[in-house]
Amino acid sequence: MSKLGIADFYKMKQEKKKISMVTAYDYGMMSLIDQTDIDMVLVGDSAATVMFGLDSTVSVTMDAMINMCAMVSRAASNTYVVGDMPYMSYELGIEKALDNAGRLMKEGFVDAVKLEGGTRIKNTIKALVDVGIPVMGHIGLTPQTASQLGGYKVQGKDFLMATQIIEDAFAVQEAGVFCVGLEAIPAPLAKIITESLNIPTIGIGAGVNCDGQVLILHDLLGMFDRFVPKFVKRYAELGQEIREALNRFTEEVRSSSFPDKEHSYNMDKEVENKLTEYIKNRNGK
Ligand code: KIV
Repeated sequence: MSKLGIADFYKMKQEKKKISMVTAYDYGMMSLIDQTDIDMVLVGDSAATVMFGLDSTVSVTMDAMINMCAMVSRAASNTYVVGDMPYMSYELGIEKALDNAGRLMKEGFVDAVKLEGGTRIKNTIKALVDVGIPVMGHIGLTPQTASQLGGYKVQGKDFLMATQIIEDAFAVQEAGVFCVGLEAIPAPLAKIITESLNIPTIGIGAGVNCDGQVLILHDLLGMFDRFVPKFVKRYAELGQEIREALNRFTEEVRSSSFPDKEHSYNMDKEVENKLTEYIKNRNGK
């Protein structure tokens, strides 16, 4: 499958073909994802929880994001790569945002960057788009500022909050994003937004009517148990498989059934006999 681009994502929305997206953080996993039908990957700052063992995304740095983006991009021959702009990499002025987004593109080799926020960061998004950087928006629950939103909980349940999220959606569209992530909002609100925008919406905890869906890879594959939001569906139990495989290995090491002949190198019997003789003589000296 060849790599899709922004024009393809618009077309998919128009033709009502759903877009599939997962997160990726490293070369090994990305090599597998690249051999699948996944349309787009996000090098997410959710690495904070599933890769770095942190409780929030706030501490993720530009350097960490660039390293992960570069690893992922090296394996993504067939998949469009979006890199997350970490907390405080775009809030301190447009020049700093341009500088950091430029680094993600030049050093992380991503195809696009993602910023969290709506109306509040409209001018910043516009400045990035104006210099040719493709931007994905992210509204609703924005984990980098979750403490301001009352924690990791569904957003936009009441009329006022819902209208604010609708205004955020229009703001990022006007600023020029090519698609927008809708996180943890009621499905009817996501449907209204999706039907009102020209750009594709990618939902995570936003119901089935979005133009596409994204999940965190470790959640989808059953490799992360620390907390599991309501919107996570597991498509595999790799955590359990990994534990079982490692325990089988340990058992075979302890019982000397690994490595067997099949997994060992042999040598000519004649050389082996000579070596036995050699060591006998050597030890006898
Ligand atoms: O960082 C991330 O993985 C994200 C997803 C939750 C969309 O932003």
